[in-house]
Amino acid sequence: MLTPDGYALIGLTGIVAVLVATLTFAVLRFGAAARDSRQRTRAGSGDTAILSAALEEAVAKLKAQERATAARAEASERLSDQIIASLTAGLLVAGLNCGVRILNPAARRMLSVPDGAPLDDYRQLLGEPALSAVIDQCLTTRAPILRRVIHLPEGRGGASHLGVTVSPLSDGAGELLGAICLFTDLTAVKQLEEQLRLKESLAAVGELTAGIAHEFRNGLATIHGYGKLLALKEMPETYRPYVEGIRAETESLGQIVVNFLNFARPAQLTLSQVELREVCERAADDVRAEARALGGDVTVLGEFGQIEGDEVLLRQAFSNLLRNAVEACAGASRRPVVTVESVVDPVQRSFRITVNDNGPGIELTARDRVFQPFFTLKRDGTGLGLALVQKIIVFHNGRITIGSSPLGGASFQVILPSV
Ligand SMILES: Nc1ncnc2c1ncn2[C@@H]1O[C@H](COP(=O)(O)OP(=O)(O)OP(=O)(O)O)[C@@H](O)[C@H]1O
Ligand SMILES: [Mg+2]
Repeated sequence: MLTPDGYALIGLTGIVAVLVATLTFAVLRFGAAARDSRQRTRAGSGDTAILSAALEEAVAKLKAQERATAARAEASERLSDQIIASLTAGLLVAGLNCGVRILNPAARRMLSVPDGAPLDDYRQLLGEPALSAVIDQCLTTRAPILRRVIHLPEGRGGASHLGVTVSPLSDGAGELLGAICLFTDLTAVKQLEEQLRLKESLAAVGELTAGIAHEFRNGLATIHGYGKLLALKEMPETYRPYVEGIRAETESLGQIVVNFLNFARPAQLTLSQVELREVCERAADDVRAEARALGGDVTVLGEFGQIEGDEVLLRQAFSNLLRNAVEACAGASRRPVVTVESVVDPVQRSFRITVNDNGPGIELTARDRVFQPFFTLKRDGTGLGLALVQKIIVFHNGRITIGSSPLGGASFQVILPSV
């Protein structure tokens, strides 16, 4: 049997045991919590390192991507510059403010734009109203203009005929930014067309008129013959001048018909290898005496070569040009300074032979007409000289153009293919 003290002791012991157990549990929990917390801290610092490494990697990748994008952009810009520079077609990109944003080398060459020309206004830059008008029209209508052929005036250098296509330039939202103008040089095509047209029309003139001229010449020869038979000495003095007039007129008309038949006759070239220098020297010899008699001279200079051609006809062509030059100087009472100068064009594989004089020159408006048969401003000219020159040159697959001579007068430029 336990005493009350004994019960109290047992109770007290129980309480102490409960307290110790609670305390031990608390200590154990605390230790575990502390361990957990230490482990968590260690784990936390590992995450940060991984995160920053990943960030660094991402930044490096981004920088590499940026470098690659910049290099690609630079390469593509370089490529588009190279494409624009290598285009054989001319390219002009105009902005809405009339400024020229792109003008490639081919366009500069075709339009004969010098380096350093101001690019702030395409109208001023192009100079030619017909050309700026197509760009204006495209900007106003916002519609493309396809393959318009534009003729540029002679004497400005560059192309003489351009095929022009203009398209509106818009941003992604359809907002108009300007116009893209593409030019193709049609000069060579037009020259070939012109050569063909001339050959055809010369052949047609020949066929149509040679027969009539032939009959005419026979009739004239008969009249001239009868005129000669009239014995001047046996007729009254008052009639003699009439008969002399008939003789002189029929003779000169006969000469005109012969010249015309010469011109109209179908061109038949007797081809051989021709030394151009010799041809020009001989042509110069034909008129030198006349030039010297007027106190001047005819000089042959430059670089010549051989072509396949008709020596007689070529000499006749250059003689006619040189005779005209001397006559033009004489008509203006100037001492003839006449030059024949040849330049070899290895690119076009041709010879450019220029006949320059110091005469009065030829008005711009008359430059096409002087090649027409019977166009003459001379009292005793037939007007067939240049028509024949043109025919001879065209049948040698060449061209002849007129410009102004640095000597002050006319300049006839003959281009003959070397092959
Ligand atoms: N070098 C020149 N300078 C100035 N005018 C020229 C020159 N060459 C030709 N012409 C002009 O062109 C016209 C036509 O020349 P073209 O040679 O065809 O005939 P022409 O000389 O008048 O006559 P033809 O040759 O039959 O004697 C000339 O009348 C002249 O007015
Ligand atoms: Mg003449």
